Amino acid sequence: MSKELIRLANCTMAFDDEVVLDNINLYINDKEFLTLLGPSGCGKTTTLRIIGGFQTPTSGDIFFDGVRINAVPPHKRAINTVFQKYALFPHLNVYENIAFGLRIPKTDEKGKKVKLPEEEIHQRVMEMLEVVNLKGFDKRHITQLSGGQQQRVAIARALVNKPKVLLLDEPLGALDLKLRKDMQNELKRIQKAMEITFIYVTHDQEEALAMSDTVVVMDAGKIQQIGTPEDIYNEPKNAFVADFIGESNIIDGIMRADGVVEIFNRRFRCLDGGFEKDEPVDVVIRPEDVDIVPEDQGQLKGTVTNVTFKGMQYDIIVDFYGFKWLIQTTDLSPVGSRIGIKIDPDGIHVMKKSHYSGMFGDYSSYSEEYEEISDASFDPDEDQEGGDEE
Ligand SMILES: Nc1ncnc2c1ncn2[C@@H]1O[C@H](COP(=O)(O)OP(=O)(O)O)[C@@H](O)[C@H]1O
Ligand SMILES: [Mg+2]
Repeated sequence: MSKELIRLANCTMAFDDEVVLDNINLYINDKEFLTLLGPSGCGKTTTLRIIGGFQTPTSGDIFFDGVRINAVPPHKRAINTVFQKYALFPHLNVYENIAFGLRIPKTDEKGKKVKLPEEEIHQRVMEMLEVVNLKGFDKRHITQLSGGQQQRVAIARALVNKPKVLLLDEPLGALDLKLRKDMQNELKRIQKAMEITFIYVTHDQEEALAMSDTVVVMDAGKIQQIGTPEDIYNEPKNAFVADFIGESNIIDGIMRADGVVEIFNRRFRCLDGGFEKDEPVDVVIRPEDVDIVPEDQGQLKGTVTNVTFKGMQYDIIVDFYGFKWLIQTTDLSPVGSRIGIKIDPDGIHVMKKSHYSGMFGDYSSYSEEYEEISDASFDPDEDQEGGDEE
């Protein structure tokens, strides 16, 4: 899994004068499940299209197995794509949809057109039906399939040519939540079974954390952080990543010494170091890392202003000196009660200040309405995608 397969080196993409990808540097290993994660418009699809060969970067290079492929057209790359709108042929059955790419004659070294024998096509289609769990569906018409089954056919069709890399652009966006979760597990299983590289695009952070070996967090045409799901969650590089991945309280702090950070004029032990003495920093505290204790035993003391029952836990909003935190707890602390909190050193994560500082991490405007907005998976760009498959 450690062999490098694809590299983007200083890739910039501009449309007219608008820079939509700004100096992207990224390598992708063989057999890796890598996810490009970020809000709508951050440049995920553009990055994928550069890898697929549908777009040439304005500047910078793309390498495949060490060879520069900037000018290599899509069909000459060992890469296939599954788009969100799977563009299956409605007049063909499942078998013929999957066999389609295999029936196109290939040109051999002597320039002669060669066709795959029917026997081999049959064997490969049957193999793919097994991989995507659609055994026995070969004669079905596309219109007789559920959304999830159609998605599996699209994946089988993209894999039947044995690409080294599969690109998937928000492939589960059209499915409902339950089916999406099932398909996430399925895709992981398929990727392992086929032993190929998946490059996956999503704006859904839960999906990215659940499926990926490596997550690439993007915003505004720039890579914000690259790491394992655990790295990204536990050690976010800046306030954007901390806010985008999971829930975060992000508080102004001052680094007094290695392992000592000051928040609200109180010193907390932490595991971070390497900052200047008295350097202003952003401090991330996850809602699940805060312990509620009696007020007189707390490192900080505050007032509960909002309680939401979430099934597994309560989400409570607590006002500390005018700054509102989100805390997750299994014990009910009613609205209006005074509480104390304790935070273990490993529950505190210190980050360098960035241009994102001050933009995120305050729960002052928290309400049911806020929740709905932040949970919505509406992607205004989605309608313009797809249709460019094949
Ligand atoms: N062909 C194009 N011409 C002009 N602008 C484009 C084109 N393709 C993408 N963009 C712009 O580039 C930015 C990034 O788009 P995209 O890569 O599709 O983002 P994402 O997939 O992360 O939502 C957006 O602002 C989008 O409007
Ligand atoms: Mg997109």
